[in-house]
Amino acid sequence: MTAELDAPVTVRPCARRPACCHHANAMATIYAARHLRSPARPARRRPRAPRRRSSRSSTTTITTTACRRATTTPRCPSKLAFWSVCSLALLLAFILLSPSSAPVPRSAPESPRRSLHTSASSTASWGGAAWEKKVRASARVRRARGLSVLVTGAAGFVGCHAAAALRRRGDGVLGLDNFNDYYDPALKRGRAALLARSGVYVVDGDIADAELLAKLFDVAPFTHVLHLAAQAGVRHALVDPMSYVRANVAGLVALLEAACAASPQPAIVWASSSSVYGLNSHVPFSEHDRTDRPASLYAATKKAGEEIAHVYNHIYGLSLTALRFFTVYGPWGRPDMAYFFFTRDILAGQPITVYESAGGTHQTTISRDFTYIDDIVKGCVAALDTAGRSTGSGGKKRGQAPFRTYNLGNTSPVPVTQLVDLLEKLLKVKAVRKVVKMPRNGDVPYTHANVSLAQRELGYRPSTDLQTGLKKFVRWYLEYYHPELAEKQKHRSSNNGKGSRGHNGSSSSAR
Ligand SMILES: NC(=O)c1ccc[n+]([C@@H]2O[C@H](COP(=O)([O-])OP(=O)(O)OC[C@H]3O[C@@H](n4cnc5c(N)ncnc54)[C@H](O)[C@@H]3O)[C@@H](O)[C@H]2O)c1
Repeated sequence: MTAELDAPVTVRPCARRPACCHHANAMATIYAARHLRSPARPARRRPRAPRRRSSRSSTTTITTTACRRATTTPRCPSKLAFWSVCSLALLLAFILLSPSSAPVPRSAPESPRRSLHTSASSTASWGGAAWEKKVRASARVRRARGLSVLVTGAAGFVGCHAAAALRRRGDGVLGLDNFNDYYDPALKRGRAALLARSGVYVVDGDIADAELLAKLFDVAPFTHVLHLAAQAGVRHALVDPMSYVRANVAGLVALLEAACAASPQPAIVWASSSSVYGLNSHVPFSEHDRTDRPASLYAATKKAGEEIAHVYNHIYGLSLTALRFFTVYGPWGRPDMAYFFFTRDILAGQPITVYESAGGTHQTTISRDFTYIDDIVKGCVAALDTAGRSTGSGGKKRGQAPFRTYNLGNTSPVPVTQLVDLLEKLLKVKAVRKVVKMPRNGDVPYTHANVSLAQRELGYRPSTDLQTGLKKFVRWYLEYYHPELAEKQKHRSSNNGKGSRGHNGSSSSAR
């Protein structure tokens, strides 16, 4: 099991799929939006490698040459007419055959705005006056001394909760997410719709899109970035390793580059992971422990992110705070995590695979320091509030900026077998357990956070135990995926009183 306790590689489609994303006229809309887009900000950005010349400019050069030849060759009128016709024909041929004259499909590989985009499911489009107005309105601060925060991964599990919490207290919040299909994008659309109702706009775009990032920082001078967009999960790396490099390494660098070039430079708080502790056996895991022996590619990219962040703090004066989350769970959670797919499979009467450790330092059952989403959000908000300023401007560092790393966990690891016991009790359905030895797939057997640093410096105090948090998750899960069952359970508990706990032993009513 991973520090996030994630799923086997294939994620089954969800039972309910809210209507989403793909409109019939999407191509036309996106084409129009791109052509209405105003040019990217020129002055404040540090010099970059020269871009490949566009086919449109080479067409112009060729056309000009052809015209010049046509005006300088023969004098005799008939010859002149002949050459004029030839030149015109040539000109026409160039125009018709030039790639720039044909409509560019949205997913054209040479499109510079999509160069690192990995998701076939995204309907990314941005730009134009109406779009800028939406961005500005969403990022506008609504309280005295409030923050204006760009939340990447806002359609994700942690991102949607954090964005909502910031908005509730009057901060300006703009979301950014590429709505990729690592797990059901309809769930991400559902979270974004929830945020939209509270006035938070989630831009459909990629963190590796340098032009989009420059535009966002230009339109809304963010004071902070809460960077949560990433390729999460451990086992998916066995299938698509490059997705981790693209999102967690290249994407992070693109974001840090944009933050350096922005004026004012924002302070950045971002999600690392407890996975960085890898093969560390010193418990509870402290920020002082070794993190140089990752057990998965996911962990390695998060660790690389921590080192990259240090570079940007050191050279450019960006204020950077890494938060190492420990197995976050709760309503609107991630379907690739064990508590989520155990719930789904238990309700469907499907067997669940529970790993036991091959024996070793800590226990024979796998344990996780499950941390409830509200506690994680409190930690994120406290990290933003205490971040301290970035000191750079014009691409140059003007002084020392904060560089911090904190564990955000619950400090009480629970064996996965106990997680299943709790789910059985809450769902009132007996699980069909298949206990097997943990394969070597990047998971670690045990996680346990020492949060004393976060407690001292952020005032972080996790307050939700697993039973209380799971109860809230199960209530949400049933209402979202099985509203009829949620209704039945409500009736049953109001009839039987709160003490009713027995398993019904049957999965059929749950389906
Ligand atoms: N949930 C946990 O238990 C846990 C534990 C440790 C660390 N983390 C980290 O916390 C962060 C949030 O995790 P989560 O559980 O909310 O995951 P999530 O997958 O639900 O959210 C991540 C979001 O980022 C988006 N995204 C991915 N690549 C992107 C890109 N290139 N451009 C724009 N958007 C992109 C995804 O569409 C997704 O909505 C991640 O960085 C994750 O690695 C999570």
